[in-house]
Amino acid sequence: MRKLTKKYQRLIRTPEEIEGIRRAGKLNTAVLDHVAEHIREGISTEDIDRLVADFTERHGGVCAPLNYEGFPKHCCTSINEVVCHGIPSPGEFLLDGDIVNVDVTTILDGYYADASRMFMIGKVEPEVQRLVRVARECMEAGAAACRPYGFVGDQARAITAHAHRNGYTVVRDLCGHGVGLSFHDDPEMDHYDNGRKGMQLLPGMVFTIEPMINMGTYDCFIDEDDGWTVVTEDELPSAQWEHSYLMTDDGLEIITE
Ligand code: MF3
Ligand code: CO
Ligand code: CO
Repeated sequence: MRKLTKKYQRLIRTPEEIEGIRRAGKLNTAVLDHVAEHIREGISTEDIDRLVADFTERHGGVCAPLNYEGFPKHCCTSINEVVCHGIPSPGEFLLDGDIVNVDVTTILDGYYADASRMFMIGKVEPEVQRLVRVARECMEAGAAACRPYGFVGDQARAITAHAHRNGYTVVRDLCGHGVGLSFHDDPEMDHYDNGRKGMQLLPGMVFTIEPMINMGTYDCFIDEDDGWTVVTEDELPSAQWEHSYLMTDDGLEIITE
């Protein structure tokens, strides 16, 4: 008999687990709303990190990114050409015309929820505003294409078509993921249409959709100095939105709304 090296994961969540994940989702949304209230030109990304850390702690949650595979902060803050995993820093300030993604993952009573939003600081170039809007539409188009008993590839196709229609590219090196009982589980949610069907989406699965949409090339590199920050190869801007979703018998439900 073939020896199994990878442990099977149970991907269908129980009603009790789903309740817990929903509660984590509510707190995660409240954290992002809190950021939205306070974010403005001139604050540092370290200030955003403090907003996230303090609010989460006050409400009994834990910030999943802190110490996750050595990540040093409570959330990710990714400005302009930074695709994702930007590390908050006291010397980095939000400037007029910047776009910034704030990615927050909250653990509450052991359950995880993960979401991110874009914020536009001051007067953003119309073409960059369009990138932010289309990136959001890509996430929504991906969600709309997810059917119970459908496949991951359905949402990848919808996202890629919408991005390409608008003259943008889809990052290939990073994907969405199962979430709820841990930070990153199966299914692997590729957002670029690589021609594969991918995993089947069954009622009871919880996963993120979080396409990274680039104005220029889809190619990225990781900053060698910090080992985390993902940057576009051509240093043109990138935008990303993320929600956690529950698949039900009737279709997708957003749990981080
Ligand atoms: N929140 C990110 C995601 O959407 C993961 C960040 S990993 C970290 O999957 F370590 F950088 F926080
Ligand atoms: Co995230
Ligand atoms: Co995620």
